[in-house]
Amino acid sequence: MEVAIVDTDPAEVETDLLAVALFEKGKLQEPFGDLPGAEDARAERNSRVLLRTADGLRVAVIGAGSAESFDAEKARIFAARAFGMLGEFHGKKLALAVPEEPDLPGPEVLAPAMAEGAILASFKFDGFGDSKDEDDRTPPPLERIDLVSRADGLGAAVAFAKASAEAENRARVLQSLPANRATPEFLADRALELAEAHDSIEVEVLDRAAITEAGMGGLEAVARGGPDVEPRLITIRYRGRGDGEVLGLVGKSVTFDSGGISIKPSAGMHEMKMDMSGGAAVLEAVGCLAELGIGLDVVAVLPATENLPSGTAIKPGDVITQLNGKTVEVTNTDAEGRLILADALVHCAREGADRLVDVATLTGAVVIGLGSTYAALISDNDELAREVEESGDRTGELVWRLPLHEEYFELTKGEITDLVNASAKRKAGTIYAGSFLEQFTEGKPWAHLDIAGVAWDTGRAYWGSGPTGFGTRALVDLAASMAGERP
Ligand code: BES
Ligand code: MN
Ligand code: ZN
Repeated sequence: MEVAIVDTDPAEVETDLLAVALFEKGKLQEPFGDLPGAEDARAERNSRVLLRTADGLRVAVIGAGSAESFDAEKARIFAARAFGMLGEFHGKKLALAVPEEPDLPGPEVLAPAMAEGAILASFKFDGFGDSKDEDDRTPPPLERIDLVSRADGLGAAVAFAKASAEAENRARVLQSLPANRATPEFLADRALELAEAHDSIEVEVLDRAAITEAGMGGLEAVARGGPDVEPRLITIRYRGRGDGEVLGLVGKSVTFDSGGISIKPSAGMHEMKMDMSGGAAVLEAVGCLAELGIGLDVVAVLPATENLPSGTAIKPGDVITQLNGKTVEVTNTDAEGRLILADALVHCAREGADRLVDVATLTGAVVIGLGSTYAALISDNDELAREVEESGDRTGELVWRLPLHEEYFELTKGEITDLVNASAKRKAGTIYAGSFLEQFTEGKPWAHLDIAGVAWDTGRAYWGSGPTGFGTRALVDLAASMAGERP
C-alpha cells in the first residue's frame, strides 16, 4: 500500500474518495461548502454525507465533533469511517484531508494517526477456499492513501505510522490463522523469516528436548498434552545499537488453549486459537523495529505450545519446577499461560534484558473487569509503567494499571510448593496472575500487559470484530521512545 503526503488543493486530488472532517461551529472547507447537498452535512460524530464536485470528485463529509475533543484517536476513527465509505462503492484510493484549526492537535499528530486508522481499517484476512476472492461483494484491497496537507516535515512520522500499522496487520494475520496452521513451528518459521530479511535480527529456536534439557519445566509441562505438536522456545535478538539498555519482550504463544485436563466449555473454544496474540504482537513489533532501524537492543522470547488434554498431559495437582528452580503445584491446567511465561521471563532476563515487558491473553477476569477498551497493566516499576501507559495513550492501545500488594502475593503461595498456579477462591484473577509472574522477573523492572479482552473483537472502528494485533504499535512506540527516536 502506498501512503503519500500531497500538498495540492483538496479539490484537485486524484482519488476515488476524498474525506473531509466537519467540526462543530466550523464550516465545510472551501470549495466544498457550495456543492449541492452540502447543507445536509452535520458535525456530529458518525454523521456522513457524500457529495460530488463538478469535476466528479467524490467528497465524503464526516462529522468530527468538537475541535477541542478531536485527537489522534478520533483521527484514526475518522479515517476508518472514510475507508468504510470507500468500500461501499469498491474504491481503491482514499484521500484524507488533514484538518488544521486553532483548537486541533497539529498535523504532525493527526496525519500519522489518519494513516494508521485507514491501514488498520483496511485489514482483511484472506481466509481459505473458493469464496476468498473473486467475490464481487468484497471490496478490493486499499491501494493508496493520500494525506492532503500543506504542512512540512510530516514524512518521518507518517512513515513510522505506516510501518507500525502494517506490522500490526501482520500480527492480525497470525492471530487469524487456525491452530492447525499457526503451530509453534510456524511461529518459529516466521521469526526465522524476519532473521532472513534483516541482518540485525538473530533467532534461536529450542525444540522439546532442548526445552526439557534447559529446565523450562513450565513450558515442558504444558507442551506434554500435545505429543504430536512440538513446542518451541523462540528467542529473537534485535541488535539496533549494540550498547546501552536492552529491552526484553515476552509474548504468550499458546497456539491453542483447550484448557488441558481442566478443559474449557466447548462453546467458543475455537476462539482460543488466538491465545498466541501476545507472541504475534511481540514478533511483528520486533520485525518493525528492524525495518525502521530503531537504535535499541531487544531480546524477545516466545514460549510457543498448545495446551491439550491427553494421556500424557499434566494433571491437576501435579508439581513442576520452573526455570529459576521455584516449584509450582498446577491446581488448574487452564492457567497455563503463567507457567510458560514464568520460564520465558527468566530466560529473557538471563539473555540480557534490563527491563521486561510481557504481553499475554492471560485471564478471563480482565475481560470482565476492563472489557474491550483497556488492557490491564501490572508493574513493579512506576517509571516503566508510566512509559507503557504513555505509549498506550499515543497509539490508542490503552492500558489501565492494576495494583500489586503483599496480600495478593500471599494468595499465590503453595502448601506443598513455592507457588500454586490458580487460586481456589478466584480472587482478583488478573492480579493473581500478575503476582505469580512477578516472581520470575529476576529483579528486573517489569511490566505485564493482560490483553485477553482487547486482542479480539473490540468493535473499535479501525479494528472491527476480528483480531486487533493489540500491543504491536504500542511496543514499537515504547522501543522508539526508549531509543529517543520516536518521530
Ligand atoms: N487463555 C486463557 C485466557 C483468555 C480468556 C484469553 C478469554 C482470551 C479470552 C487463559 O489461559 C485461561 O484459561 N485463564 C484462566 C485462568 C484460571 C483457570 C485461573 C481463566 O481466566 O479462566
Ligand atoms: Mn488457559
Ligand atoms: Zn491461555
